[in-house]
Amino acid sequence: MYDFKIEAADKDVMYRDLALALEGLVAGEPDAVANMANASALIFETLPDVNWVGFYRNVGDELVLGPFQGRPACIRMTFEQGVCGAAAKTRHVQRVEDVHAFPGHIACDSASTSEIVVPLIRDGELLGVLDIDSPKQARFTEEDEAGVVRLGEILSRVL
Ligand code: SME
Repeated sequence: MYDFKIEAADKDVMYRDLALALEGLVAGEPDAVANMANASALIFETLPDVNWVGFYRNVGDELVLGPFQGRPACIRMTFEQGVCGAAAKTRHVQRVEDVHAFPGHIACDSASTSEIVVPLIRDGELLGVLDIDSPKQARFTEEDEAGVVRLGEILSRVL
């Protein structure tokens, strides 16, 4: 079975290995749900200090919950709502050190304190967003952002 054993000690190496593992997992598989399901499990298992990893899909300009790992989450959001909505609307990564200070943040799990949301875009079309939450304040650094953006690029090709 899939047992990637990615070491979290060195972030650079970890994100490189994580990207390689993700590429391997989605290679040749055209089914978007299967790819989102495996991607959320792989990322959730690999990144330390995260409590939610998953996808919101762009369905008619609304964000609809997709495959994820973590507690049950809010099902639909407009582009005007939450950190995910901001990522979808601006098409820019949202890296939030303290979600409680983010206007309009939607609390799905009260344990979530910081969050990173990456828009997934292919050929100019917004496919959805990849959302990762952490119970630790300011969990996501610029290095994490670069790593998660790389994961988003891999996923955008197979969703
Ligand atoms: N906190 C998010 C909502 C989704 S959950 O974190 C899974 C937001 O404000 O967009």
